[in-house]
Amino acid sequence: MRRVFALTAILTILGIANAHAEDTLSPLHFQSQGPLGTIDKAAAQRGYEVYKSVCAGCHSLGKVHYRDLEALGLTPAQAAGEALAAGGTLNSPIKGAAPLNMGGAIPPDLSSIAAQRPGGPNYIYNYLTGFGPAPAGVTLLPGHNYNAAFPGGQTAMPDVLHDGAVTYQDGVQPTKAQEAADVAEFLAWAADPNLDARHQIGFRAIIFFAFLTIIAVASKRKVWRTQA
Ligand code: HEC
Repeated sequence: MRRVFALTAILTILGIANAHAEDTLSPLHFQSQGPLGTIDKAAAQRGYEVYKSVCAGCHSLGKVHYRDLEALGLTPAQAAGEALAAGGTLNSPIKGAAPLNMGGAIPPDLSSIAAQRPGGPNYIYNYLTGFGPAPAGVTLLPGHNYNAAFPGGQTAMPDVLHDGAVTYQDGVQPTKAQEAADVAEFLAWAADPNLDARHQIGFRAIIFFAFLTIIAVASKRKVWRTQA
């Protein structure tokens, strides 16, 4: 039993350590990533500002409703205000512009994109900051831009973020990297709005099993002592 306990402890520690090891591969640490991660609500709120001012011109967010913004810390009145400004109600989905065809590609709905792409928010961050001049020898298709993170190296989406593309209410500097990180965290939340609740349950389960292990060890000792 002591071995089982040690094994459980080692596996738990390895699991958490491994999640940290993955995080170090990217220049950024997203608070939502990892087995016990929670959404960074301040970052996600700023990310909503970025989405609204920059991305909504081309991308819809059809599975997210204005009332859902309350989970990010907006008051019901603020969420209703957002809905009203967009001509909807609290129960309306967050609608961007109607999909347009750009260079043969249609901007996808962003509701689940963080779940659909390997790497989630890290990929979105790398994509949004991955634009640049095409290296020698790369020929771009008409209406396409070089992007180091996009599979194939070129995308029909233009480079839309730059320093100061939005104004943040909380005084954080809106650098291009900051905007990209914030909108990535916002899209991680949009794709998995129940992440916090799920990870809380996971945390409680770890406590529960640790407790159960202690009881099992204690009772094993007691049983074997009386029978010896
Ligand atoms: C001018 C229109 C336009 C704007 C503004 C825009 N996008 Fe896009 N986006 C596109 C198009 C078009 C595609 C499809 C690209 C392709 O398939 O080549 C796309 C694709 C994407 C993808 C999917 C990439 C993939 O792996 O398939 C993500 C993620 C994305 N955009 C995020 C954003 C975010 C976040 C913003 C705001 C910061 C934004 N976009 C602003 C046009 C736009």
